[in-house]
Parts: sequence; C-alpha cells; structure tokens
Amino acid sequence: MMLPEEAVERFDDCLRAAEKAREIEPTAMTLATLDEQGGVSARMVLLKGWNAEGFVFYTNTLSIKGRQLARAPTAALVFFWKQTECQVRVEGPVSPVSEQEADEYFSTRARGSQLGAWASDQSQPLSSRSKLMKKVVELEMRHVGRSIPRPPHWSGYRVEPEMIEFWYGRSSRLHDRFRFTFQDGQWLRQRLYP
Ligand SMILES: Cc1cc2nc3c(=O)[nH]c(=O)nc-3n(C[C@H](O)[C@H](O)[C@H](O)COP(=O)(O)O)c2cc1C
Repeated sequence: MMLPEEAVERFDDCLRAAEKAREIEPTAMTLATLDEQGGVSARMVLLKGWNAEGFVFYTNTLSIKGRQLARAPTAALVFFWKQTECQVRVEGPVSPVSEQEADEYFSTRARGSQLGAWASDQSQPLSSRSKLMKKVVELEMRHVGRSIPRPPHWSGYRVEPEMIEFWYGRSSRLHDRFRFTFQDGQWLRQRLYP
C-alpha cells in the first residue's frame, strides 16, 4: 500500500538525520519472518531501496528467510538509530522485486560481493571455512575478465507497509509515537501512549 505523504517524510527525515549523525549502519534493520511452526524468526538485513511503495532488501532466496517468505510472504522490520533516538517499525506483506530491479541492483555491487552471492549456499550447513574460500577462488578463476551475472537464487524483496510507526525518544520516557495503519481502504493516523 502506498504510504501517506507524512509517513514518507517522517521516514526520510529519520534516515537523513541518522546519516548526518554518523550512525554506524543507518540502513541496518531487523527483519522478522514466520517459520513453518508459526514461530517468529529474526535477523538483520540492509535496506537497499525505499519509497512510498515499500522497503527493499536483498538476499539468497533459498536461505531460511527466503524459504519462509515463499511460504508466508509477510514481515516486520525494525530500525533503531541510537544517535537520533528514533525507532521505525514496519509491518506488511512482502513481494519479490522484478528481475530487472534485482539485475540493476546486483550490477552495482562490488565484485567480491557478487562472487560471494554465488559462493554462499546461505543458511546451509558448511563443513569448513576453507571450503567456502575454495569456492570463491574457483569462481574468480572462472570469471576472469568477465562480468558476473546475478545468481538466479539471489534477489530482492519489498515489504509493503500496512503499518508504519515512528518512535521518537523524549525525556522521562515520555516518548512520541505516531502509528499509521491501513484499514478499510484508508490510512489511519494515531498518536499512541509511549
Ligand atoms: C548489519 C547486518 C546486515 C546484514 N545484511 C544482510 C543483507 O542485506 N542480506 C542478507 O541476506 N543477509 C544480511 N545479513 C546477514 C543476516 O543477518 C543473516 O545472517 C543471513 O541473511 C541468514 O539469515 P537466514 O538464515 O535467516 O536466512 C546482515 C547481518 C548484519 C549483522
């Protein structure tokens, strides 16, 4: 669902302020997904694109999270920027980005990361680090002087917000919270108790 203008502006302000405050990893976010037993599974990923339509990250589609998203295409994201005392929470359905969007982003990645995407069977058991490094060297040799295509199992997902909440740290724990929820075809905006 397209975010309302105020939410777009608030997210933009939060991210810019975090970058300006030299937050160490301003695009880092927790991504929570659902496992097969209905349990919750969470890990960090990096935000690689966003607009009113959603928040994009890239990963191995055969990883644990990739398999979970294929089964249950829904997620929650959490950003926290310590320098600026700001938290953003996003919840909503997830859809894969287009092949073209994934290709475009993959082509901007450093060569080492491109090779890493081929070398890593993300989330599968690995008997030793040397096995992984050997795979990287083999791939490097095979691709000398050639560009590296995007692996078919590596792509992006867009979390399409149905809820976005902004939390601004204030003194005496009297924080400000603004929650936007998409309900009955429109966005509801509420201020919440901290
Ligand atoms: C700060 C940070 C950023 C990360 N960014 C990504 C990312 O953008 N994509 C990714 O696949 N894994 C990323 N990881 C690794 C994931 O947290 C996770 O270990 C990996 O994706 C496997 O997760 P899974 O087994 O649940 O699929 C990042 C880890 C950290 C600590």
